[in-house]
Amino acid sequence: MRILAISGSLRAASHNTALLRAAAELAPDGVEVQQYEGLDRLPHYNEDHDTDDPHPAVHHLREHIAGADLVLISTPEYNGSMPGHLKTAVDWASRPFGPDSSLWGKPVAVIGASVTDYGAVWAQDHLRKSLGLAGARVLDLELAVPKAANRFGPDGELTDPETRERLAEVMDGLVAHFESTATVKV
Ligand code: FNR
Repeated sequence: MRILAISGSLRAASHNTALLRAAAELAPDGVEVQQYEGLDRLPHYNEDHDTDDPHPAVHHLREHIAGADLVLISTPEYNGSMPGHLKTAVDWASRPFGPDSSLWGKPVAVIGASVTDYGAVWAQDHLRKSLGLAGARVLDLELAVPKAANRFGPDGELTDPETRERLAEVMDGLVAHFESTATVKV
C-alpha cells in the first residue's frame, strides 16, 4: 500500500512537513509513505495551459497522485485558509474534471499544524471542501495540531506523545480504509 504525503508548507523547517515525516515513521509495516517533492515548481493554474501536454511539474504531480493508493495532506493555515500553492495543486490535479483526473475517487485524508491555538482547522476545512468538489473521496480522519512549535524537537522530530498517538490512529485509519475497499473490490 502506497501513501503519497503532501506538505502544504514549502519552508525547510516546516512543522507540517515534519508531521508527515513522523507519519511515515508511525505507519504500520508494509505501508510505504512517499514524501512529495515538487509543489514549489508548480506554475499558477491557467486553463489556457491545461492541455494534453502539461507543464512537467503538473505532469509530475498528477502521476504521483494517480500512482498512490491514498493521499495524506498536511496543511498550514495562511490568513484563515490553505496556502495558495496548495489550492493550485488541487486545481491542477482536478483536471480534466471527471474520471480521468488523478484526484477523481482518490481517497485523501487532511491533517494540519499551526503555531496558534487552532491547528489550521479552517485551512483543513477549505481543503476538504475543494478536494470533495474535485471528486476526491475525502476520508473522515482528522488531526489538528495546535501550538506546533511546542510539539517538535530541534531536529523536527515529533516529541509530543499525544500527537504521536493521534497520528498513529490516523495512519491506522488509512490502512483500515484501504483494506475495507480492497475487500469490496474482491
Ligand atoms: C500564518 N500563520 C497562521 N496560523 C494560523 O493558525 N492561522 C492563520 O490564519 C495563519 N496565518 C498565517 C499567514 C501567513 C502568511 C503565515 C506565514 C503564517 C502561522 C502558521 O501557522 C505558522 O507559520 C506555521 O508554522 C506554518 O506551518 P509550517 O510552515 O510550520 O508547516
